[in-house]
Amino acid sequence: MTVTELRACKQRGERFAMLTAYDFTTASALDCAGIPVLLVGDTLGIFVQGHSTTLPVTLEAMIYHCEMVSRAVKQALVVGDMPFGTYNSVTSGVDNAVRIMKAGGAHAVKFEGPKLELTRQLTDLGVPVMGHLGLTPQAYHQLGGNKVQARTRDAADRLVEDAQALEEAGAFALVLEAVPTEAARRVTAALGIPTIGIGAGPYCDGQVLVSTEMLGLKGGESPRFAKRYAELRGAIVDAAAAFATEVRSGAYPDATHSYNWALKESA
Ligand code: KIV
Repeated sequence: MTVTELRACKQRGERFAMLTAYDFTTASALDCAGIPVLLVGDTLGIFVQGHSTTLPVTLEAMIYHCEMVSRAVKQALVVGDMPFGTYNSVTSGVDNAVRIMKAGGAHAVKFEGPKLELTRQLTDLGVPVMGHLGLTPQAYHQLGGNKVQARTRDAADRLVEDAQALEEAGAFALVLEAVPTEAARRVTAALGIPTIGIGAGPYCDGQVLVSTEMLGLKGGESPRFAKRYAELRGAIVDAAAAFATEVRSGAYPDATHSYNWALKESA
């Protein structure tokens, strides 16, 4: 998958999926499933590291996870998320985006908000930029939590303007997070680049989910849009409990899982 092919998908009216990936084995399975875009999201701070927000994720951690994912993929486009605080100025944003691509092996970067000058400069340098508008979780404390955005006509108008400005600045795609269906429909209709929705309704060109939630690996509550396509946490709990039971009873390891060879006289 390439950024130009994604744009062509929109022109052909073909919807596509994006999933987050944080490690080699999962990325390899998602790539094998034909998922065209894998996002090494800064949600790794929540779903891998156990933080309550994405804010503590460092550039080094992002590069480390991008390396694992990019080593696994054979066909997917790998997008590296720029962590909070790594694009406070255009200069630092350019330097850190280049590191995510050079050291992490990502094919593109994503960052939150209408950062037009950074988008322009990166695009000029050959770094494909995915924008991210609507709910921007790195602004968690400023927004007062993870709340649905663009709920008024004025706010939806501003969302359309910001999205158009990002497209003009060179972004190749745009994530729209937690906005009303109608706002996402308007943005999608106004842009030549694909929109990728998460909690943004059915009219976006693509849809993204956090793989940990989509696979049912996580316990507890999930947002209403986070549909589960498997229940892997239950499968892991059952498998681990079965292993422990067999170890306690002596049923594991049995003959088929042991090297029952006669010992040789000498090497
Ligand atoms: O970091 C992430 O996983 C994301 C998605 C929720 C779009 O930005």
